[in-house]
Amino acid sequence: MEICVADDPAVAAARFIAGQLRQAISDRGSASLAVSGGSTAPSLFGALRDAAVSGEVAWDRVDVWQVDERIAPDGDADRNAAQLTDFPAAVHLMPVTADDPAQALVGHAAAMPEVLDVVHLGVGDDGHTASWPPTPHPDALAALASDERAFVIDEFNGRKRATLGPILVNGARCRVVLATGPKKAAVLARWIQRSNDEILDVTLPIGAVEPGGTHIFVDAAAAAGFDDYRHGPMSTSPASERLAKLSNAPVTPTLREMFADDPDRATRFVTQAVGLRVDWSKALVDDATMTELLALARDSGVEARRDAMFAGEHINNTEDRAVGHAALRMPSDASFVVDGHDVVPDVHGVLDAMTAFAERVRADESITHVVNIGIGGSDLGPAMAYDALRAFRHERIRCSFVSNVGGEDIASVLATSDPASTLFVIASKTFGTIETLTNARTARAWLTDALGDAAVAEHFVAVSTNAERVAEFGIDTANMFGFWDWVGGRYSVDSAIGLSLMIAIGPDRFASFLEGFHAMDEHFLTAPLEENVPVIMALIGVWYANRLGHDTKAVLPYANDLARFAAYLQQLDMESNGKSVDVDGNRITHDSGPIIWGEPGTNGQHAFYQLIHQGTRIIPCDFIGFAKGNHPYQEHHDLLMSNMFAQSEALAFGRSNEAEPHRNFEGNRPNTVILAERLTPSVLGQLIALYEHIVHVQGTIWGVNSYDQWGVELGKELANQITPELLGEPTPDAHDSSTNALIAWYREHR
Ligand code: F6P
Repeated sequence: MEICVADDPAVAAARFIAGQLRQAISDRGSASLAVSGGSTAPSLFGALRDAAVSGEVAWDRVDVWQVDERIAPDGDADRNAAQLTDFPAAVHLMPVTADDPAQALVGHAAAMPEVLDVVHLGVGDDGHTASWPPTPHPDALAALASDERAFVIDEFNGRKRATLGPILVNGARCRVVLATGPKKAAVLARWIQRSNDEILDVTLPIGAVEPGGTHIFVDAAAAAGFDDYRHGPMSTSPASERLAKLSNAPVTPTLREMFADDPDRATRFVTQAVGLRVDWSKALVDDATMTELLALARDSGVEARRDAMFAGEHINNTEDRAVGHAALRMPSDASFVVDGHDVVPDVHGVLDAMTAFAERVRADESITHVVNIGIGGSDLGPAMAYDALRAFRHERIRCSFVSNVGGEDIASVLATSDPASTLFVIASKTFGTIETLTNARTARAWLTDALGDAAVAEHFVAVSTNAERVAEFGIDTANMFGFWDWVGGRYSVDSAIGLSLMIAIGPDRFASFLEGFHAMDEHFLTAPLEENVPVIMALIGVWYANRLGHDTKAVLPYANDLARFAAYLQQLDMESNGKSVDVDGNRITHDSGPIIWGEPGTNGQHAFYQLIHQGTRIIPCDFIGFAKGNHPYQEHHDLLMSNMFAQSEALAFGRSNEAEPHRNFEGNRPNTVILAERLTPSVLGQLIALYEHIVHVQGTIWGVNSYDQWGVELGKELANQITPELLGEPTPDAHDSSTNALIAWYREHR
């Protein structure tokens, strides 16, 4: 196969096609070319018409066929690719009418030669080629044209789709794939990763037609802006193979239909996990879907990998580490063995030290302000939980969280602090994070300016796995609370990283926070998969991502104190499963972690819910609400909760209004509702552990390592390189022209 990476891939594809056509003319006296694809066709025709190419081809001997449902009927010049680009040869336009594309296409294909010389295939952003969509509606296949040379899918995404069938494509003498734009190039790159040198294994779109998929033998591919394939062919990820089979799984009827058909749906599709009532009846799944997904979970080894995690195996293979956050919340008589050593006594040793320290601070009248300096997992967990557990905080002590290296973060906290009554907790797993060390140095200078060097011992403590660096920084390791490399940063709120939280809510409530985690761990470990809430929620997410193509999820707590919950989950989920190679380094060809975002209701309702209700994208939502608020204002709480229930209902069932389309709510927008009695430390622990395990299960099914984060490294490295360049001489030219110019501008204006 010939692969061409070019700034203008259409020109490259056109040159290749022109060469094939010339050859055909010289061999047989004439040539035929079929061009599929709706948006790719105009650029290809433009390039073919280009003098450099068209002068070399005797176009009067070429039959050109346009094959796509978006090619307009004769006469509609605005939408007709060939006419638009003033093509030099006569082009057979597919006379598609909205009424009967199947018939039109069959006739069109029947008039073609038995064997086409060249077929051009476009690539869709979603992975379809020609007009084969990756996830056709089940009814669509019924509309397959009887002549298999032509292929019609009716009413996919509300549009009629028509193109050549596999017989014509694979029967042609040569196939060329052209990917215009970066998204399409990425799709093409994935295909190439899955292929050997000769075959692009495009099973995804065609798997819907022929179970097991059909190979298209692609002879040339052109794209701009990707070079991943240069890493050499990789073997196919087994997870991708498994997930490809999902494309044959039928999608469900609408929520309205499923509720009408099953009066028990609202009870059957509700599962209790510890104190959380999880209602997934408004998810777009039914019994058949769940059977398929549970089989996928079993095939993917979900149980074995869960057990491997709890057995202390090094499932974080790229860092060769165990994944032991579950040990952080185990009772003292439990055991969790990492590398032959039971770590639970170590965990409780640190918890005891934290408890003694927290009690001392809580009793010591002189400390009124605790400032946690950390970033990522060393900030988001305690900061989120401090807000979430507002109702349980110590009256005298407030906490602040400084994370951003931009000076306004530390400046605003120092501006409202008194050195004598402030305790700094420097939280960093590695104690090498530039943001944290910079903020910590500024805080130390501020403190010593006011109270002298000796004050550091009384006003600074560290939380880290790296005692050496803590000592280097100037904090006595007697004032350090440790944790271990088998605790990932984003899984560390229940380790010593939670010290500021423990000071705020007290050791007993912190213990109950840990008990909440542990109870959810037990549920995850012991509940059968079909009653296992993290597994169920993970599978629903897999269905949305890999079958329905929804690439984002909104998490919408109806509790203002959970304002930072979505931000916390962004790191937990996106740093864990935002991966595109599997645990063995194979490129994956399925989508992995979704984009997570959200804000508390009802504020979100007055901002972005419009798009969730009526936008073109489907955004699955998790709603989180409580029977009781942590405040005395019952009327407020009733209003809040009625809004949450209303949103869940409106999204799922909508309300049609044919007369006024702008008032139409089509519904069928999926959501899951998580309810608990009250937002307590234990319930918060349960919620966090629930999402941790969802991430774990999804990571297993996607075949990725959820416990490394190499994707953050390149930016850090470049920032370290650029920092001195902002000041030094001469003006750096080590980067691309854009970055050089940005640096130059900054140097001039700083
Ligand atoms: O840059 C990402 C990251 O490594 C996160 O995974 C981590 O939570 C954060 O930085 C902070 O790291 P540390 O706790 O070592 O300062």
